[in-house]
Parts: sequence; C-alpha cells; structure tokens
Amino acid sequence: MTQETTEIRPKKLFIKTYGCQMNVYDSDRMADALAPHGYEPTPVMDDADLVVLNTCHIREKASEKVFSELGRLAELRAEGRNFMVGVAGCVAQAEGEEIARRAKGRVDMVFGPQSYHRLPDLIARAERGEMVLETEFPPEDKFEHLPPAQKQVIRGRGLTAFLTVQEGCDKFCSFCVVPYTRGAETSRPVAQVLDEARRLADAGVREITLLGQNVNAYHGLDATGRAVGLGELCAQLAEIEGLARIRYTTSHPSDMSDELIAAHASNDKLMPYLHLPVQSGSDRILAAMNRRHTRAEYMALIARIKAARPDMALSGDFIVGFPGETDADFEETMSIVREVGYASAYTFKYSIRPGTPGATMGDQVPEDVKTARLAQLNDLVTAQMRGFGKSCVGRTLDVLLEKPGRMPGQLGGRSPYLQAVHIEAPESLIGTVQKVLIVAAGNNSIEGKIVTHAERNPASVIESQALPA
Ligand code: 5AD
Ligand code: SF4
Repeated sequence: MTQETTEIRPKKLFIKTYGCQMNVYDSDRMADALAPHGYEPTPVMDDADLVVLNTCHIREKASEKVFSELGRLAELRAEGRNFMVGVAGCVAQAEGEEIARRAKGRVDMVFGPQSYHRLPDLIARAERGEMVLETEFPPEDKFEHLPPAQKQVIRGRGLTAFLTVQEGCDKFCSFCVVPYTRGAETSRPVAQVLDEARRLADAGVREITLLGQNVNAYHGLDATGRAVGLGELCAQLAEIEGLARIRYTTSHPSDMSDELIAAHASNDKLMPYLHLPVQSGSDRILAAMNRRHTRAEYMALIARIKAARPDMALSGDFIVGFPGETDADFEETMSIVREVGYASAYTFKYSIRPGTPGATMGDQVPEDVKTARLAQLNDLVTAQMRGFGKSCVGRTLDVLLEKPGRMPGQLGGRSPYLQAVHIEAPESLIGTVQKVLIVAAGNNSIEGKIVTHAERNPASVIESQALPA
C-alpha cells in the first residue's frame, strides 16, 4: 500500500500593513493562518510568492497609498515577476467591487477583515484562476477558526503583543468609516481572550495591549453566559503569571464605565495611560460629529479618572476642519487641550469619507484653513508632549526593558506612560521591569538609569547592616 503524502513547498509571504494597531494584529493573524500551508513571512517584497496589502480606509490619504502600491506591483508583474496579489483590510471591505473591477489582472484576491480565517481557501480559489472577492460578513466567528501562533513565532514578535478583544463599532460618528468597514460591534468571549493571553505569556510576552475600535465597550461572555466588562476582563488577565502589564486602546468617552475607572485604582498591572479621544472641544461640533457627549461631560469624566488614578497620562485624537467648524469652535479645541494637558495626541485634518454623514454636510472647511489650524494645534500638543517628558525627569519609573537600543550597550523600553525610554543596561535584563531614574527628556523619548536596590531603599540597607550576623 502506498501512502499519499502532500509535500508543502515553502512559499514566501509579504504583508504590507497600513493604518492602525488592529491591522498590525490582523497581519500577524493572516501569517498564522498561512503558516500551516507552507507560507513563511519575508521582509523583502521582491522575494514574495504572495503579497498582501492590509489596507486602511480611515482617511483619503491612507486609501490613496494602496492604489499607488497596486500600480507598482502591476509594473513588477509586467516585468515578469510571478507573485499573487491580495488586497485585505478596510479599503478592500469598502471598495472591494471597485478594486476587483479596476484592477482586473493586477489583483488576484480582495477580502475584508472578517474573512482572514478563510485565506487558505481564497488562495486555492485564486490559484484556480478565479478573481476572488470576499467582503461579506461571514456568519462564523473568525477567531474560532484562526490558528494560534506557534510559540517560536510569538517569541520572534517581541515581548509586547496586541490582542484584539473587540471589533467593530455602533457609534456612527459622522466622520468615520469604521462602522461600515469593520461592521457592528462584537466582543470575543472571555475564555478565548484568556486562552490567547496565556499562550502569549507562555511564550514570554510581558505586556499585552487589548485592541478594539471601541475597546471599552467590551462585553464578552463568560462560561456562564454573563457579559463581562473590560475592567473585569483586565482583572482576570492580571492573574496570568508572567504578564506584567496590560493596556487597552481605543476607548470612547461614553463607554468609560465606573467599573473600568475603578480597575485603574485596583489593578496594578493596568498601566496609567489612557487613549480617550475627544475629537473636538466645541459642543456644537461634538453634536455635529454625533459624539454623544458634551465637553463638560468629557471634562467631568477626566476628573473621575484622575480621582481614581492621579498620575493617569492622557492621550487623544483631534480632528480639525470638520464641516461647519468656525474659528471660535477651533479655539474651543485648543482650550480643551490646554485644560486637559495631554501626554500624547494624534491630530488630523478632516478628510471626507464617502458614505459617511459628514461627506454630504454643507459648510466644508477650506483646505488652507484646515492646514493652518492643524499647524497651530500641532504646536500646542508637541509642547505638551515635551512638557510631559520633562515632568518625568527626576522621577523613578518602572520600565519594561524590551529590546536592544540604538546605541551599543543601550536598551530600549517603555515607561508606564508608554514613553520610549533609553537606558544603559546589559542585554540580560531584557524582559524585566526595572526601577529607572529619569535623567533627561528628548523630543520623542526619555533617558534614564537603573536605580539599584540600595539607592532605591537606603533604609533597608541600614536595617540589614544592623542585623546580627
Ligand atoms: N477625517 C480625519 N480624521 C479621522 N479620523 C477618523 N475618521 C476621520 C476622518 N474622516 C480620526 C479620528 C479617530 C482616528 C482613528 O482617526 O480622530 O479617532
Ligand atoms: Fe469611528 Fe471611533 Fe466614532 Fe466608532 S467611536 S465611529 S470607530 S471614531
């Protein structure tokens, strides 16, 4: 009797990731889905048998990049290079039919974020000559079907990891495509999240960042069918041995529950850094954006968060030039930034997204006005970010040492407030959390030195010297 064996020829996979952290996570999951089918990731596009563009649709510029990259790939194919091209992510979801039509012969597969578990099957169909278009929201749970990453693969990805716990959004802010591209809000069951986190910790991951477009709306079910909030999920994650730090992003102000705020006071592993976008400081614009809260409500929320965790570092997203935004509205945005004081902030010019309510609003703001407002806001947030770095000089912070630094003998790590920290330290300390005295602050990072036990706690040295031999 002869036994049939299918030999898997190793193939090279190149994924180019655009946009947010969830796309970074998704790209890894695509690689995990293809690993059992003989695909190995390559950092070199020219070596690839399969090129996947994992795209972002949030602003016009992000979408445009995809089309110019597709043009470049088409040229390579015209020169005789033989590889398959897939377009994934939110542009695929939003403009899939258009891409499939316009890029015929240049693209083999177009598939949205809910189809990644079907990737091996999609490739098989494309290999048979089909132009694959998969942008439905399939009824099955993709996470149940995506294979877990191998331990050594997780190790290769570093000591910090993303973990998607929630996807999609029901908020329908009037500027945003996410509810259309990522669909309705869903939460992964608690056991699934804990399993993945344990696997990450087991492979040496020390810090996880829970991801969701609206992560603090998390309401995954536990084994008894009870909905668990993000604060409780973080408490359960904190029990996992080896895991030193938990973060989460991105949050909506109206989902910042008392339970989650309280978790910041009680859970030592939950880091004191919160990305809580407000988008605008003007009530009129917040209403037009359908943000569902006022400026005063946001400020009251910040006060409650600071009461629970006084050293909480705040981060935000801001859009300038939303339709109808006057100079006075913009000044309100400047004033809320001054009032809150952000440790970090992301600023954007409003970008018309077809299909969203904002796209058809009258009173669009001219480009030059947007540009001027953005520059003004950037000056302010840059000064605040530097100020925050400077305010840390002289403080001793817990730093997770993550990787070799840029200079020899240096390590790179992160403070609790997500600042990049450079420290002179031996590589043997990678993966540990050290007490670090911050000695200098630059534009994008801070510098420190490890504080020895004796420096940290001189009293204990005296006591131990006083002990009888
Ligand atoms: N134009 C500009 N910025 C946008 N964002 C989302 N949609 C748009 C848009 N149409 C920003 C918001 C959001 C961040 C992820 O991107 O600030 O919080
Ligand atoms: Fe987009 Fe966030 Fe608003 Fe949802 S809450 S619509 S993801 S900006």
